[in-house]
Amino acid sequence: MRAMHTLPDPMLQRIVDDLAEHGWSQQDVFIPESLTLALATECHERAAAGQLAPAAVGRGEAQEVREGIRGDHIQWLEPGESAACDAYLMLMGHVRLALNRGLFLGLEDYESHFAMYPPGAFYRRHVDRFRDDDRRMVSAVLYLNEGWQPEHGGQLRMYLKGGREHDINPVGGSLVLFLSGEMPHEVLLAHHERLSLTGWFRRRGTDIF
Ligand code: OGA
Ligand code: MN
Repeated sequence: MRAMHTLPDPMLQRIVDDLAEHGWSQQDVFIPESLTLALATECHERAAAGQLAPAAVGRGEAQEVREGIRGDHIQWLEPGESAACDAYLMLMGHVRLALNRGLFLGLEDYESHFAMYPPGAFYRRHVDRFRDDDRRMVSAVLYLNEGWQPEHGGQLRMYLKGGREHDINPVGGSLVLFLSGEMPHEVLLAHHERLSLTGWFRRRGTDIF
């Protein structure tokens, strides 16, 4: 893995323009294969060490694990855990600044987790913003699957305006972004283990205390 990764300005501009025009963006080659591989390896190591836990639905005290809604296993990222994760967080930091410059979103931070869907797992239709917390503005999913085939299932299905659906295969190195509060989506049944890094750009909360 190279020590430094950067994002070309035209790619950042495409992301900004896509989000402004359509509410979502897909970049087929967001990171080089070497970084995808390093992140996938790290996800496997964390899983083998028992660090991934069944994902919960909801927030705060209302959180509960409901396998009928989502069957993935996750672990939240912290800075300083590995070179590969830090490279990923740095790139997403660049995206955050581009979104703030281009869309005036006032994004303050980025929270993200590894996600592993074992064969047979899915995530039913939902939106990424909580009823009691509207800080999540833009969702970003980076896929870590080498050699993913359409028959492996596990597509991200987005429900676009006008009743159209758009399916995306979770191909390694590709990134999908969408407006968290406006894009209903689901993960279709995966027949193969499916890896990703999923995160949310957040603005400052509006708690009144
Ligand atoms: C999520 C989610 C989509 C995907 O974790 O909230 O919708 O393609 N993930 O993994
Ligand atoms: Mn989601």
